[in-house]
Amino acid sequence: MWRVAEGGIVVLTGAGISAESGLGTFRDPGGLWTRYRLEDVATPEGFARNPALVHEFYNARRAQARAARPNAAHAALARLERALGPALLIVTQNVDALHEAAGASRVLHMHGQLDGALCAACGHRWPAPEAMAIEDPCPACGSAATRPDVVWFGEYPAHMDEIGAALAGAELFVSIGTSGNVWPAAGFAAEARARGARTLELNLEPSDGANVFHEARHGPASQLVPAWVDEVLQTRQRPAPRPR
Ligand code: APR
Repeated sequence: MWRVAEGGIVVLTGAGISAESGLGTFRDPGGLWTRYRLEDVATPEGFARNPALVHEFYNARRAQARAARPNAAHAALARLERALGPALLIVTQNVDALHEAAGASRVLHMHGQLDGALCAACGHRWPAPEAMAIEDPCPACGSAATRPDVVWFGEYPAHMDEIGAALAGAELFVSIGTSGNVWPAAGFAAEARARGARTLELNLEPSDGANVFHEARHGPASQLVPAWVDEVLQTRQRPAPRPR
């Protein structure tokens, strides 16, 4: 269980943080959900109907994600983690591994990861091959029930207990590159604010939940995030004013 130290920072990231690494977002013009029906490729029902189409969708995203490089926003958050350690927790909705590729390790993937394979029959998990098919035999039980280890619509996100505990103790909640469309992530800012945290949105444009944040800055993550990390580190390094 990763907890964020009392008074720490919880950062939520979405597809927007990986946009400048060349990975598509979902709801922007040309986004994934404008090119695929999410009902067909991101639901258990879609997988039951046509597992080959679902694997084709995730195999393509896995190849693209593995070829992508982290951008300045991912690097800045890794720098912040090196400085703050347990006082920072990154919760990501993204299934790419760009936070880890930039050097971050305290990362919770609440929607799973493209680099994971899951047996729908026995629940066994193993590292995803380049391309996956339902017929791939499960290394544990041998079933031909292989699926991507990602959370689909209608399924319960991962790490929710850890995320709830982190939000309860956070001093600051920062949302980066997410439209605030999908629950429960869309409710994290209000939850943190209700527990006394300051809330900040760093996004290309106002998200659907923009009104919940104390402060919002709009622009590309590769510019906003490094500037914000610099601010945090300067503030935390500035010695507390001497008592008079
Ligand atoms: N810098 C910062 N923000 C950006 C950038 C950028 N370069 N490019 C796009 N954005 C913002 C957009 O303005 C938008 O608000 O990123 C957000 C992306 O929103 P979505 O496409 O809805 O992606 P996300 O919020 O991560 O979706 C949440 O929905 O379909 C599910 O599981 C999927 O995890 C995903 C979840």
